[in-house]
Amino acid sequence: MAAFDTRLCALDEVPEGGSNGFVVDTADGRCGIMVIRRAGDVVCYVNSCPHIGTPLDMQPGRFLSQDGRHILCTTHGALFEIDDGLCVAGPCVDDHLTAVAAEVRDGSVFVTHAALPTLWPPLPKDL
Ligand code: FES
Repeated sequence: MAAFDTRLCALDEVPEGGSNGFVVDTADGRCGIMVIRRAGDVVCYVNSCPHIGTPLDMQPGRFLSQDGRHILCTTHGALFEIDDGLCVAGPCVDDHLTAVAAEVRDGSVFVTHAALPTLWPPLPKDL
């Protein structure tokens, strides 16, 4: 499958200096992805903490620490570097978030469908 073939969101859905979260369908379920926007570019990670695999955002889309310098897992307070997803404080120090390669094109953020892991089962059809 072609690279960057799946539109994740509009760039404007992620505030400059801030973050947002999105869910995309995979071949056999769904994947949550966090998007951090800085200086017009984006950094994306799978929304799953390497500690015990929970989503990081207790408040949907809020992934950054109060000072905006790190990604924060709100479950047990782990802090991660924005640039490379390295955990620098908390119960999973030296582990990494799973990076998701992304491209900003025509005002939208695109990812590669084939590269996305499945985190959750598909939604029931009647929801
Ligand atoms: S689940 Fe993220 S720090 Fe424990």
